[in-house]
Amino acid sequence: MEGYRWKAAVVTLSDKGYKGEREDRSGPLICEMLTEAGYDIHETVLLPDEREEIEKSLRRLCDIDRVDIIFTTGGTGFAPRDCAPEAAMSVAERNAPGIAEAMRLASLKITPRAMLSRGVSVIRGQTLIVNLPGSPKAARENLEAVLPSLDHGLAILTGRDGECAR
Ligand code: MTE
Repeated sequence: MEGYRWKAAVVTLSDKGYKGEREDRSGPLICEMLTEAGYDIHETVLLPDEREEIEKSLRRLCDIDRVDIIFTTGGTGFAPRDCAPEAAMSVAERNAPGIAEAMRLASLKITPRAMLSRGVSVIRGQTLIVNLPGSPKAARENLEAVLPSLDHGLAILTGRDGECAR
């Protein structure tokens, strides 16, 4: 879908960011990378690590705003309040594990700590939801690993391109 601008939302999950105790650097970085890749940023959201709030926001972005893709950043680790994967899985209708697998595969070549991200990639309706880790470095490395392949997946998901054979 060369030239088509996918509608994206970026959701930062951080208790500290939400309280204003830490600047959100990953959200703006992801937006910059997406814009450069030809995506339209429909909305950015900053939420605390509160599962219900996150799920509500994801549902709205999928069902009402009908964005093509949502990236969350943060909340994928082992801290007690990290719940990005659980929120994504509970709104999910289908699994799309390859994206998360590809991110961890690429990331493990950079740091063994990549195994500590529990991030998932799932589908709700015609929206793809992808969990990225929280640090700007990790968010960049994970996004870089999959960004070039997402266009084709989104084209199939949204029915804009039915052909996979090319
Ligand atoms: N992936 C890449 N590519 N680079 C990184 O530096 N950091 C890891 C991992 N994934 C990292 C990475 C670390 S240290 C953690 S704890 C997990 O992501 C979870 O991060 P999060 O809790 O900020 O979501």
